[in-house]
Amino acid sequence: MTNTNGGNIHDLGVGLISVGWMGKLHTRSYQALTTVYPELGLRPRLVHAADTAPARADYAREVLGYAKASADYRDLLADPEVDVVSICAPTGLHREIGVAAAEAGKPFWIEKPVGRDAKEAADVAAAASKAGVVTSVGFNYRHAPAVEHVRELVANGDLGRITNVRAVFFTGYASEPKGALSWRFIRDLAGSGALGDLLSHVVDLVQYLLGPISEVSALTSTIYTERPILPMGSGTHFAVIEDGEMGTVENDDFAAALVRFAPDSRAAGAVGTLEASRVIVGPECGLSFEIYGTEGSVTWNFEQMNDLRVCLGRGGPHYGYTTVLGNSYLGDYARFQPGPGISMGYDDLKVIEAKKFLVAVTGGERRNSTVDDAHHVAEVIAAAAASTERGTWQHVPAVAGATFGGDPEPATAGG
Ligand SMILES: NC(=O)c1ccc[n+]([C@@H]2O[C@H](COP(=O)([O-])OP(=O)(O)OC[C@H]3O[C@@H](n4cnc5c(N)ncnc54)[C@H](O)[C@@H]3O)[C@@H](O)[C@H]2O)c1
Repeated sequence: MTNTNGGNIHDLGVGLISVGWMGKLHTRSYQALTTVYPELGLRPRLVHAADTAPARADYAREVLGYAKASADYRDLLADPEVDVVSICAPTGLHREIGVAAAEAGKPFWIEKPVGRDAKEAADVAAAASKAGVVTSVGFNYRHAPAVEHVRELVANGDLGRITNVRAVFFTGYASEPKGALSWRFIRDLAGSGALGDLLSHVVDLVQYLLGPISEVSALTSTIYTERPILPMGSGTHFAVIEDGEMGTVENDDFAAALVRFAPDSRAAGAVGTLEASRVIVGPECGLSFEIYGTEGSVTWNFEQMNDLRVCLGRGGPHYGYTTVLGNSYLGDYARFQPGPGISMGYDDLKVIEAKKFLVAVTGGERRNSTVDDAHHVAEVIAAAAASTERGTWQHVPAVAGATFGGDPEPATAGG
């Protein structure tokens, strides 16, 4: 069989660490590759899963179809059948497992934000660089076809000089005061709250579109200081527990940052306001941005991820925004839908992410997000955290190796 990814069939043994929401989704994404991108010759096989919760390990074998399941991720990393690893553990374990995967010489796809802080992200990036392994990070919103199109509009100069950006991630997963105290609310397990969990997505997205942020001023707040405890490996962070024992929320529910883009970014001189909340009422998965330039502007919201609102140029009879529907000129849209206006969904973004990861692993083009990109995001978040303590603007150090997705490709119909 011939294909366009080096001409070979790539048989790849998959190891999955942690079988929660993301672990299940990584699994489905690998499985979709053979049919969504048949010409790439990617043939992932589910060989080994690991989770400390016995019911989750059983689920991996009995329902997801992994050949083996272990309680200890080290058994998985030592398994010669495992060629690539998905790391979907709680954020507090990212450093330990990411470094161990690199030292085992296994390419890995790790969930965001890659560790609890910039030091942990830097450790993972250094280990991956030393081992020379390919990495990918779960910054899935990059892959929305509308987002890929905005990246091209910016790079082509169609919006003129970028002047200002507004971007938010407003989710309501903890808007119930009795919403469960999952690992996300415990500093030792998660690091910061909305800042690391949600603003990291916002920072990655605007940096993917515009290039690096170089200065930050920020503030955070916690709206609910106690919540009912949820045991690890049970339920989800959307769970509501009416009569549970209460525990302390140790990190922030809301974060806001004012940012400046670096002189070498595509938005040199521009400013941005970035916000994230996990307790907001109304928006549920409202990751959105508005980008304003001297010749045009765009707005996008994940809750209507197939629609992009665009205004190009000033004047004429059509002042204001035009809504562009999903169509085959945008990103990988045509891989999923045969004609315009048919919705793609969140899970499809993960399929594209799996493709970018395994194409890079098998020697193809590098359009994957990397742990270096995640390290830069973590430096922005660290600067924001420092600003909340000191009340001053903070400089964001440059990160060697961060490419923010490399050069965007010109649009062609057909995906
Ligand atoms: N990219 C995205 O949009 C997105 C969305 C949700 C979560 N995430 C990220 O994915 C990661 C996981 O989040 P989730 O929502 O899937 O979590 P989850 O709570 O659904 O699942 C976590 C799993 O990890 C297991 N676990 C705990 N300790 C372990 C250990 N020592 N070894 C192996 N497994 C262990 C738990 O038993 C559980 O099954 C987090 O870093 C989170 O920030 C990313």
